[in-house]
Amino acid sequence: MTMSRLLDLDLRTGRSVIDRYLDNGYAHVRGMSSRFAGAVSAWLLVHQTEEGVRGDVVEIGTFEGRYFIALALALADDEKALGIDSFDWPSERTLDNFRKNCATHGARLDRIDAWKTNASTLTAEALRDRVGAALIRFFHIDGDHSPEPLLHDLSLATAVLHPKGLICLDDMLHPAYPFLVATVRDYLEAHPDMRVMAIIDREDIIGAAKFLLCRADAVPLYENALMKRYPQRHFTLGGDALGHHCVVLTPQPRLAVVD
Ligand SMILES: C[S@@+](CC[C@H](N)C(=O)[O-])C[C@H]1O[C@@H](n2cnc3c(N)ncnc32)[C@H](O)[C@@H]1O
Repeated sequence: MTMSRLLDLDLRTGRSVIDRYLDNGYAHVRGMSSRFAGAVSAWLLVHQTEEGVRGDVVEIGTFEGRYFIALALALADDEKALGIDSFDWPSERTLDNFRKNCATHGARLDRIDAWKTNASTLTAEALRDRVGAALIRFFHIDGDHSPEPLLHDLSLATAVLHPKGLICLDDMLHPAYPFLVATVRDYLEAHPDMRVMAIIDREDIIGAAKFLLCRADAVPLYENALMKRYPQRHFTLGGDALGHHCVVLTPQPRLAVVD
């Protein structure tokens, strides 16, 4: 029998297919993103659908599909998910494992495209050719965590992003990559229309924090909805994101006690 650790009630997305995966599948698929981040991200896709934002999903750094499957299960009809990875780490079995995991956990293979390539060599044109006419409403970047590749992945995401879409950056503020946020700062300075809309805090050293970026004019679509949806996870002080206030969600919010 599969062991399950039930998702806290307030983290449920309300879509049984996603919640079943978060309960029974997520921890069994090898990967790194936290279940907390998986739940919030899948809910954001549900929210986008309810708000009429349509588009596809892309992830750079798909590995064996842990986080990707949560996103794929949240797709609306006729939408697709593209997973980009060299699929050669830790072995050449990774792509097969990814496909098996998608099938096992109900992510429809006819709506999934696995692109075995080095993301750093891709051009925006090549990515546009691959995704076709679709705009990308959620783009997760979790590939090479060094400055130039991250900047490159961010430029790919920006080129195909839906005007109301989200770019999700993994492993922000991770002790193993302490200065990677400097690259995000460079990107934000070069793209003054983009904001850090929210931060999904870490669960532990492996399930690290994610930044959610979107265009400034798309922020109102998400920020109040996130605070209303996750009152028990809301760090009410928020974050100072280069002069803009951003939502901070954390598994166990608390404030320092000062007498
Ligand atoms: C930390 S794992 C991703 C974990 C996964 N997103 C999850 O949440 O479970 C990083 C992945 O990025 C891939 N990767 C790293 N650099 C890459 C590059 N330049 N192009 C494509 N994939 C890359 C690795 O092969 C690896 O599978």
